[in-house]
Amino acid sequence: MKLIVNPSQNLTGRVTLPGDKSISHRALLLGAMADGVTTARNWLNAGVTARMVDCVRALGIAVNIEPTGPGRATLTVHGRGLAGFQPPAEPLFCGGSATTMRFLMGLLATQPFTAVVDGHAGLRRRPMERIAQPLRQMGATIETTDGHAPLTITGARLAGIEYEMPVASAQLQTALLLAALGAEGPVTLRQPGPARDHTLRMLRGMGAELTDAGGVITFNPVGFRLQPLDFTVPGDMSAAAFLLVTALTTPGSTIELAGVNTNFTRTGLLDMLQAMGGAIKLNGAREQAGEPVADLRVQAGPLAGVEVCGEVVVRMIDEFPVFTVAALHAAGQTLVRDAAELRLKESDRIAVVVEEFGKLGAAITAHPDGFAISGPQQLHGGQVRSHRDHRLAMSLAVAGLSATEPVVIDDADELHESFPGFVETLQTLGADIRWQG
Ligand code: S3P
Repeated sequence: MKLIVNPSQNLTGRVTLPGDKSISHRALLLGAMADGVTTARNWLNAGVTARMVDCVRALGIAVNIEPTGPGRATLTVHGRGLAGFQPPAEPLFCGGSATTMRFLMGLLATQPFTAVVDGHAGLRRRPMERIAQPLRQMGATIETTDGHAPLTITGARLAGIEYEMPVASAQLQTALLLAALGAEGPVTLRQPGPARDHTLRMLRGMGAELTDAGGVITFNPVGFRLQPLDFTVPGDMSAAAFLLVTALTTPGSTIELAGVNTNFTRTGLLDMLQAMGGAIKLNGAREQAGEPVADLRVQAGPLAGVEVCGEVVVRMIDEFPVFTVAALHAAGQTLVRDAAELRLKESDRIAVVVEEFGKLGAAITAHPDGFAISGPQQLHGGQVRSHRDHRLAMSLAVAGLSATEPVVIDDADELHESFPGFVETLQTLGADIRWQG
Protein backbone atom coordinates (compact mmCIF):
# COMPACT_ATOMS: atom_id res chain seq x y z
CA MET A 1 0.00 0.00 0.00
CA LYS A 2 1.08 3.57 -0.71
CA LEU A 3 1.24 6.17 2.02
CA ILE A 4 0.68 9.80 0.97
CA VAL A 5 2.26 12.42 3.24
CA ASN A 6 1.49 16.10 2.66
CA PRO A 7 3.37 19.05 4.17
CA SER A 8 1.88 19.71 7.62
CA GLN A 9 2.32 22.08 10.54
CA ASN A 10 1.24 22.84 14.12
CA LEU A 11 0.94 19.17 15.16
CA THR A 12 -0.37 19.14 18.71
CA GLY A 13 -1.57 16.58 21.24
CA ARG A 14 -0.76 13.89 23.75
CA VAL A 15 -0.23 10.28 22.68
CA THR A 16 0.54 6.98 24.36
CA LEU A 17 2.89 4.58 22.63
CA PRO A 18 2.44 0.88 21.95
CA GLY A 19 4.45 -1.43 24.19
CA ASP A 20 8.18 -1.74 23.70
CA LYS A 21 9.05 -4.25 20.93
CA SER A 22 12.07 -5.71 22.74
CA ILE A 23 10.21 -6.17 26.03
CA SER A 24 7.19 -7.64 24.19
CA HIS A 25 9.34 -10.27 22.45
CA ARG A 26 11.00 -11.16 25.75
CA ALA A 27 7.69 -11.37 27.66
CA LEU A 28 6.43 -13.91 25.15
CA LEU A 29 9.46 -16.15 24.97
CA LEU A 30 10.49 -16.00 28.63
CA GLY A 31 6.81 -16.44 29.54
CA ALA A 32 6.75 -19.60 27.40
CA MET A 33 9.82 -20.92 29.27
CA ALA A 34 8.39 -20.10 32.74
CA ASP A 35 6.30 -22.31 35.02
CA GLY A 36 2.78 -20.84 34.86
CA VAL A 37 0.76 -18.08 33.22
CA THR A 38 2.46 -14.81 32.21
CA THR A 39 0.27 -11.78 31.49
CA ALA A 40 1.60 -8.66 29.71
CA ARG A 41 -0.68 -5.64 29.11
CA ASN A 42 0.09 -2.96 26.48
CA TRP A 43 1.92 -5.76 24.67
CA LEU A 44 3.03 -4.85 21.13
CA ASN A 45 0.61 -6.56 18.74
CA ALA A 46 2.43 -6.09 15.43
CA GLY A 47 3.95 -8.02 12.52
CA VAL A 48 7.22 -8.89 14.22
CA THR A 49 5.61 -10.16 17.43
CA ALA A 50 2.97 -12.07 15.43
CA ARG A 51 5.81 -14.11 13.90
CA MET A 52 7.07 -14.97 17.40
CA VAL A 53 3.53 -15.94 18.50
CA ASP A 54 3.19 -18.32 15.51
CA CYS A 55 6.54 -19.94 16.34
CA VAL A 56 5.82 -20.31 20.07
CA ARG A 57 2.41 -21.87 19.28
CA ALA A 58 4.07 -24.22 16.76
CA LEU A 59 6.27 -25.36 19.67
CA GLY A 60 3.13 -26.44 21.57
CA ILE A 61 2.62 -23.45 23.91
CA ALA A 62 -0.84 -21.87 24.35
CA VAL A 63 -0.76 -18.12 23.69
CA ASN A 64 -3.77 -15.79 23.87
CA ILE A 65 -3.79 -12.29 22.32
CA GLU A 66 -6.65 -9.99 23.37
CA PRO A 67 -6.46 -6.80 21.22
CA THR A 68 -6.93 -3.59 23.24
CA GLY A 69 -6.20 -0.94 20.55
CA PRO A 70 -4.15 -0.38 17.40
CA GLY A 71 -0.92 -2.35 17.85
CA ARG A 72 -1.76 -3.24 21.45
CA ALA A 73 -3.04 -6.32 23.21
CA THR A 74 -3.06 -8.19 26.48
CA LEU A 75 -0.83 -11.22 26.07
CA THR A 76 -1.35 -14.42 28.05
CA VAL A 77 1.24 -17.21 27.73
CA HIS A 78 0.76 -20.59 29.36
CA GLY A 79 4.36 -21.51 30.11
CA ARG A 80 5.18 -25.08 31.03
CA GLY A 81 8.87 -24.77 31.82
CA LEU A 82 11.75 -25.82 29.60
CA ALA A 83 10.32 -29.34 29.26
CA GLY A 84 6.97 -28.06 27.96
CA PHE A 85 7.94 -27.55 24.29
CA GLN A 86 7.10 -29.94 21.46
CA PRO A 87 8.91 -30.49 18.14
CA PRO A 88 7.33 -28.27 15.45
CA ALA A 89 5.61 -30.04 12.55
CA GLU A 90 6.91 -27.49 10.01
CA PRO A 91 9.88 -25.10 9.73
CA LEU A 92 9.49 -22.12 12.07
CA PHE A 93 9.01 -19.02 9.91
CA CYS A 94 10.25 -15.73 11.37
CA GLY A 95 9.27 -13.39 8.49
CA GLY A 96 11.60 -10.40 8.71
CA SER A 97 12.15 -10.56 12.48
CA ALA A 98 15.78 -11.18 13.44
CA THR A 99 14.81 -10.90 17.11
CA THR A 100 12.42 -13.85 16.69
CA MET A 101 15.03 -15.94 14.87
CA ARG A 102 17.93 -15.20 17.21
CA PHE A 103 15.91 -15.69 20.40
CA LEU A 104 14.52 -18.98 19.04
CA MET A 105 18.08 -20.14 18.40
CA GLY A 106 18.79 -19.75 22.13
CA LEU A 107 15.62 -21.59 23.16
CA LEU A 108 15.97 -24.40 20.58
CA ALA A 109 19.56 -25.02 21.66
CA THR A 110 18.10 -26.33 24.95
CA GLN A 111 15.50 -28.65 23.39
CA PRO A 112 15.85 -32.43 22.75
CA PHE A 113 14.67 -32.24 19.11
CA THR A 114 15.57 -30.82 15.70
CA ALA A 115 13.84 -27.75 14.24
CA VAL A 116 14.35 -25.70 11.08
CA VAL A 117 14.13 -21.91 11.36
CA ASP A 118 13.72 -19.64 8.33
CA GLY A 119 12.63 -16.15 7.30
CA HIS A 120 11.97 -14.04 4.23
CA ALA A 121 14.69 -12.86 1.84
CA GLY A 122 15.53 -9.76 3.94
CA LEU A 123 16.14 -11.88 7.05
CA ARG A 124 18.12 -14.50 5.13
CA ARG A 125 20.82 -11.89 4.44
CA ARG A 126 21.39 -11.12 8.14
CA PRO A 127 24.27 -12.74 10.08
CA MET A 128 23.42 -15.75 12.25
CA GLU A 129 26.88 -17.24 12.81
CA ARG A 130 27.49 -14.76 15.67
CA ILE A 131 24.75 -16.59 17.61
CA ALA A 132 25.36 -20.11 16.25
CA GLN A 133 29.04 -20.22 17.11
CA PRO A 134 28.80 -19.77 20.94
CA LEU A 135 25.70 -22.01 21.06
CA ARG A 136 27.74 -24.75 19.37
CA GLN A 137 30.43 -24.17 21.98
CA MET A 138 27.76 -24.88 24.64
CA GLY A 139 26.90 -28.19 22.91
CA ALA A 140 24.06 -27.45 20.44
CA THR A 141 24.23 -28.61 16.81
CA ILE A 142 23.46 -25.75 14.44
CA GLU A 143 23.75 -25.78 10.67
CA THR A 144 23.56 -22.43 8.91
CA THR A 145 23.37 -21.72 5.19
CA ASP A 146 26.69 -19.95 4.65
CA GLY A 147 26.22 -18.23 7.99
CA HIS A 148 22.58 -17.36 7.31
CA ALA A 149 19.04 -18.77 7.53
CA PRO A 150 17.64 -21.31 6.90
CA LEU A 151 19.04 -22.88 10.06
CA THR A 152 18.73 -26.42 11.38
CA ILE A 153 19.05 -26.62 15.15
CA THR A 154 19.34 -29.73 17.34
CA GLY A 155 19.40 -28.96 21.03
CA ALA A 156 21.21 -30.76 23.81
CA ARG A 157 21.99 -30.66 27.50
CA LEU A 158 24.22 -27.62 27.32
CA ALA A 159 27.41 -26.81 29.15
CA GLY A 160 28.09 -23.45 30.76
CA ILE A 161 30.29 -21.00 28.86
CA GLU A 162 32.62 -18.09 29.42
CA TYR A 163 32.29 -15.98 26.29
CA GLU A 164 33.79 -12.76 24.97
CA MET A 165 31.04 -11.24 22.80
CA PRO A 166 32.50 -9.78 19.55
CA VAL A 167 29.66 -7.19 19.31
CA ALA A 168 27.56 -5.33 21.90
CA SER A 169 24.37 -7.01 20.69
CA ALA A 170 21.36 -7.51 22.95
CA GLN A 171 20.09 -10.21 20.61
CA LEU A 172 23.29 -12.21 21.04
CA GLN A 173 23.31 -11.62 24.81
CA THR A 174 19.66 -12.72 25.04
CA ALA A 175 20.08 -15.84 22.90
CA LEU A 176 22.94 -16.93 25.18
CA LEU A 177 20.98 -16.19 28.37
CA LEU A 178 18.01 -18.17 27.05
CA ALA A 179 20.36 -21.06 26.28
CA ALA A 180 21.86 -20.63 29.76
CA LEU A 181 18.46 -21.58 31.22
CA GLY A 182 19.14 -25.10 29.91
CA ALA A 183 22.82 -25.22 30.86
CA GLU A 184 24.41 -27.43 33.48
CA GLY A 185 26.98 -24.85 34.56
CA PRO A 186 27.43 -21.09 34.99
CA VAL A 187 27.50 -18.66 32.09
CA THR A 188 29.75 -15.58 31.93
CA LEU A 189 29.41 -13.09 29.07
CA ARG A 190 31.79 -10.20 28.45
CA GLN A 191 29.98 -7.49 26.51
CA PRO A 192 32.14 -4.88 24.75
CA GLY A 193 29.79 -1.95 25.56
CA PRO A 194 26.26 -1.19 26.76
CA ALA A 195 23.49 -3.03 24.89
CA ARG A 196 19.81 -2.95 25.88
CA ASP A 197 19.44 -4.78 29.20
CA HIS A 198 15.75 -5.75 29.19
CA THR A 199 16.54 -9.48 29.38
CA LEU A 200 18.59 -9.02 32.54
CA ARG A 201 15.81 -6.93 34.13
CA MET A 202 13.09 -9.40 33.14
CA LEU A 203 15.05 -12.46 34.27
CA ARG A 204 15.57 -10.78 37.65
CA GLY A 205 11.83 -10.05 37.79
CA MET A 206 11.29 -13.79 37.20
CA GLY A 207 13.50 -14.71 40.14
CA ALA A 208 16.96 -15.11 38.57
CA GLU A 209 20.10 -13.96 40.34
CA LEU A 210 22.33 -12.35 37.72
CA THR A 211 25.18 -9.93 38.08
CA ASP A 212 26.29 -7.31 35.57
CA ALA A 213 29.54 -5.65 36.60
CA GLY A 214 30.96 -3.32 33.96
CA GLY A 215 29.74 -5.45 31.06
CA VAL A 216 30.61 -8.82 32.67
CA ILE A 217 27.34 -10.71 33.03
CA THR A 218 27.25 -13.83 35.20
CA PHE A 219 24.38 -16.23 35.66
CA ASN A 220 24.33 -19.62 37.34
CA PRO A 221 21.11 -21.31 36.16
CA VAL A 222 21.63 -24.66 37.92
CA GLY A 223 18.34 -25.68 39.57
CA PHE A 224 16.65 -22.39 38.62
CA ARG A 225 13.11 -22.26 37.22
CA LEU A 226 11.52 -19.09 35.81
CA GLN A 227 8.54 -17.65 37.67
CA PRO A 228 5.78 -16.15 35.48
CA LEU A 229 5.19 -12.38 35.27
CA ASP A 230 2.14 -10.10 35.39
CA PHE A 231 2.97 -6.58 34.17
CA THR A 232 2.31 -3.67 31.80
CA VAL A 233 4.84 -3.10 29.01
CA PRO A 234 6.22 0.50 28.96
CA GLY A 235 5.85 2.59 25.78
CA ASP A 236 8.46 1.93 23.09
CA MET A 237 11.24 4.55 22.86
CA SER A 238 11.95 3.32 19.32
CA ALA A 239 8.34 4.15 18.32
CA ALA A 240 8.47 7.43 20.28
CA ALA A 241 11.56 8.29 18.19
CA PHE A 242 9.38 8.98 15.11
CA LEU A 243 7.19 11.38 17.08
CA LEU A 244 10.15 13.07 18.77
CA VAL A 245 11.66 13.92 15.40
CA THR A 246 8.21 14.80 13.96
CA ALA A 247 7.65 17.31 16.77
CA LEU A 248 11.11 18.86 16.40
CA THR A 249 11.00 19.22 12.59
CA THR A 250 7.34 19.99 11.78
CA PRO A 251 6.86 23.78 12.16
CA GLY A 252 4.79 24.98 15.13
CA SER A 253 4.41 21.54 16.75
CA THR A 254 4.22 20.54 20.43
CA ILE A 255 3.71 16.86 21.19
CA GLU A 256 3.47 15.01 24.50
CA LEU A 257 4.37 11.34 24.71
CA ALA A 258 3.09 9.53 27.78
CA GLY A 259 4.75 6.57 29.51
CA VAL A 260 7.88 6.13 27.38
CA ASN A 261 10.62 3.71 28.46
CA THR A 262 13.67 5.84 29.31
CA ASN A 263 16.07 2.97 30.02
CA PHE A 264 19.62 4.37 29.55
CA THR A 265 20.43 1.65 27.02
CA ARG A 266 17.65 3.04 24.76
CA THR A 267 17.96 6.83 25.07
CA GLY A 268 20.79 7.50 22.62
CA LEU A 269 18.52 9.37 20.18
CA LEU A 270 17.03 11.47 22.98
CA ASP A 271 20.54 12.44 24.16
CA MET A 272 21.68 13.33 20.62
CA LEU A 273 18.54 15.40 19.87
CA GLN A 274 19.04 17.32 23.12
CA ALA A 275 22.71 17.84 22.23
CA MET A 276 21.49 19.30 18.90
CA GLY A 277 19.40 21.86 20.84
CA GLY A 278 16.08 19.97 20.62
CA ALA A 279 13.49 21.15 23.16
CA ILE A 280 12.63 17.85 24.89
CA LYS A 281 11.54 17.78 28.54
CA LEU A 282 11.15 14.68 30.69
CA ASN A 283 8.40 14.79 33.33
CA GLY A 284 6.99 12.37 35.89
CA ALA A 285 9.96 9.98 35.98
CA ARG A 286 8.83 6.71 37.56
CA GLU A 287 9.38 2.95 37.44
CA GLN A 288 7.17 0.44 35.67
CA ALA A 289 7.81 -3.29 35.48
CA GLY A 290 11.43 -2.84 36.53
CA GLU A 291 12.06 -0.22 33.81
CA PRO A 292 12.37 3.59 34.07
CA VAL A 293 9.51 5.46 32.38
CA ALA A 294 8.72 9.18 31.85
CA ASP A 295 6.41 11.52 29.91
CA LEU A 296 8.16 13.53 27.19
CA ARG A 297 7.20 17.01 25.95
CA VAL A 298 8.74 18.05 22.64
CA GLN A 299 8.54 21.35 20.78
CA ALA A 300 9.63 22.30 17.25
CA GLY A 301 12.71 24.50 17.00
CA PRO A 302 16.12 24.92 15.39
CA LEU A 303 18.69 22.12 15.57
CA ALA A 304 22.48 22.11 15.20
CA GLY A 305 24.63 19.35 13.69
CA VAL A 306 26.30 16.83 16.00
CA GLU A 307 28.86 14.01 15.90
CA VAL A 308 27.50 10.57 16.78
CA CYS A 309 30.10 7.90 17.61
CA GLY A 310 31.21 5.44 20.29
CA GLU A 311 28.90 3.87 22.87
CA VAL A 312 25.86 6.06 22.03
CA VAL A 313 25.57 4.31 18.64
CA VAL A 314 24.32 1.05 20.22
CA ARG A 315 21.95 3.03 22.48
CA MET A 316 20.20 4.40 19.35
CA ILE A 317 20.93 1.56 16.92
CA ASP A 318 17.35 1.37 15.58
CA GLU A 319 16.92 5.16 15.36
CA PHE A 320 19.33 6.18 12.58
CA PRO A 321 16.77 6.33 9.73
CA VAL A 322 14.68 8.88 11.64
CA PHE A 323 17.74 10.61 13.08
CA THR A 324 18.59 11.38 9.42
CA VAL A 325 15.53 13.66 9.26
CA ALA A 326 16.74 15.63 12.30
CA ALA A 327 20.25 15.84 10.79
CA LEU A 328 18.85 17.20 7.51
CA HIS A 329 17.10 19.95 9.50
CA ALA A 330 20.17 20.81 11.56
CA ALA A 331 22.48 23.70 10.77
CA GLY A 332 26.06 22.55 10.14
CA GLN A 333 27.69 19.16 9.86
CA THR A 334 26.32 15.91 11.31
CA LEU A 335 28.69 12.97 11.25
CA VAL A 336 27.79 9.37 12.17
CA ARG A 337 30.72 6.98 12.79
CA ASP A 338 31.25 3.52 14.38
CA ALA A 339 27.89 2.39 12.97
CA ALA A 340 28.82 -0.32 10.42
CA GLU A 341 26.21 -2.54 12.14
CA LEU A 342 23.56 -0.41 10.36
CA ARG A 343 24.41 -2.28 7.16
CA LEU A 344 23.15 -5.52 8.79
CA LYS A 345 19.68 -4.38 9.89
CA GLU A 346 16.29 -4.86 8.15
CA SER A 347 17.99 -3.20 5.18
CA ASP A 348 21.50 -1.77 4.65
CA ARG A 349 20.42 1.35 6.49
CA ILE A 350 23.36 3.44 5.28
CA ALA A 351 22.72 2.64 1.60
CA VAL A 352 18.92 2.96 1.72
CA VAL A 353 18.97 6.24 3.63
CA VAL A 354 21.30 7.74 1.00
CA GLU A 355 19.16 6.33 -1.85
CA GLU A 356 15.65 7.14 -0.62
CA PHE A 357 16.26 10.52 1.05
CA GLY A 358 18.29 11.33 -2.08
CA LYS A 359 15.09 10.99 -4.13
CA LEU A 360 13.66 13.83 -2.00
CA GLY A 361 16.69 16.02 -2.73
CA ALA A 362 18.92 15.15 0.25
CA ALA A 363 22.70 15.09 -0.19
CA ILE A 364 24.07 12.45 2.20
CA THR A 365 27.62 11.10 2.01
CA ALA A 366 27.92 7.40 2.85
CA HIS A 367 30.95 6.04 4.73
CA PRO A 368 31.68 2.37 5.43
CA ASP A 369 30.65 2.89 9.08
CA GLY A 370 28.21 5.81 8.91
CA PHE A 371 27.28 8.92 6.96
CA ALA A 372 27.70 12.69 6.86
CA ILE A 373 25.11 15.41 6.29
CA SER A 374 25.67 19.10 5.85
CA GLY A 375 22.51 21.02 6.76
CA PRO A 376 20.05 22.47 6.82
CA GLN A 377 18.61 20.89 3.66
CA GLN A 378 15.02 21.54 2.53
CA LEU A 379 13.51 18.36 1.04
CA HIS A 380 11.14 18.43 -1.92
CA GLY A 381 8.40 15.90 -2.65
CA GLY A 382 8.79 12.65 -4.53
CA GLN A 383 8.12 8.94 -4.68
CA VAL A 384 10.18 6.64 -2.45
CA ARG A 385 10.04 3.03 -1.26
CA SER A 386 10.42 1.16 2.02
CA HIS A 387 12.86 -1.62 0.98
CA ARG A 388 10.68 -3.77 3.32
CA ASP A 389 12.16 -1.84 6.24
CA HIS A 390 9.47 -0.62 8.66
CA ARG A 391 11.71 2.04 10.19
CA LEU A 392 12.72 3.46 6.81
CA ALA A 393 9.03 3.71 5.79
CA MET A 394 8.15 5.70 8.93
CA SER A 395 11.26 7.91 8.68
CA LEU A 396 10.36 8.88 5.10
CA ALA A 397 6.86 9.75 6.32
CA VAL A 398 8.31 11.99 9.05
CA ALA A 399 10.47 13.68 6.39
CA GLY A 400 7.38 14.23 4.21
CA LEU A 401 5.65 16.31 6.91
CA SER A 402 8.24 19.10 6.49
CA ALA A 403 8.92 18.69 2.73
CA THR A 404 7.68 21.29 0.22
CA GLU A 405 5.45 18.88 -1.76
CA PRO A 406 3.76 15.51 -1.12
CA VAL A 407 5.89 12.41 -0.48
CA VAL A 408 4.50 9.08 -1.70
CA ILE A 409 5.92 5.96 0.00
CA ASP A 410 5.45 2.63 -1.81
CA ASP A 411 5.08 -0.57 0.27
CA ALA A 412 4.66 1.56 3.37
CA ASP A 413 2.41 -1.06 5.02
CA GLU A 414 5.70 -2.62 6.15
CA LEU A 415 5.40 -0.16 9.07
CA HIS A 416 2.78 -2.50 10.57
CA GLU A 417 5.75 -4.71 11.49
CA SER A 418 6.52 -2.54 14.53
CA PHE A 419 4.06 0.42 14.84
CA PRO A 420 0.58 -0.42 13.46
CA GLY A 421 -0.98 2.79 14.87
CA PHE A 422 1.64 5.12 13.35
CA VAL A 423 -0.57 6.75 10.68
CA GLU A 424 -3.60 7.12 13.00
CA THR A 425 -1.39 8.64 15.70
CA LEU A 426 -0.06 11.28 13.29
CA GLN A 427 -3.60 11.98 12.04
CA THR A 428 -4.80 12.60 15.62
CA LEU A 429 -2.00 15.13 16.01
CA GLY A 430 -3.25 16.95 12.88
CA ALA A 431 -0.89 15.57 10.20
CA ASP A 432 -2.08 15.37 6.58
CA ILE A 433 -1.22 11.72 5.96
CA ARG A 434 -3.33 8.93 4.45
CA TRP A 435 -3.21 5.47 2.86
CA GLN A 436 -3.98 5.02 -0.83
CA GLY A 437 -4.96 1.73 -2.51
C1 S3P B 1 17.02 -5.91 19.83
C2 S3P B 1 18.35 -5.64 19.73
C3 S3P B 1 18.93 -4.85 18.61
C4 S3P B 1 17.86 -4.07 17.85
C5 S3P B 1 16.62 -4.88 17.57
C6 S3P B 1 16.02 -5.41 18.86
C7 S3P B 1 16.54 -6.71 20.97
O1 S3P B 1 19.59 -5.73 17.73
O2 S3P B 1 18.39 -3.59 16.63
O3 S3P B 1 15.64 -4.11 16.90
O4 S3P B 1 15.31 -6.72 21.23
O5 S3P B 1 17.38 -7.32 21.67
P1 S3P B 1 21.15 -6.17 17.94
O6 S3P B 1 21.24 -6.85 19.22
O7 S3P B 1 21.44 -7.10 16.79
O8 S3P B 1 21.92 -4.89 17.86
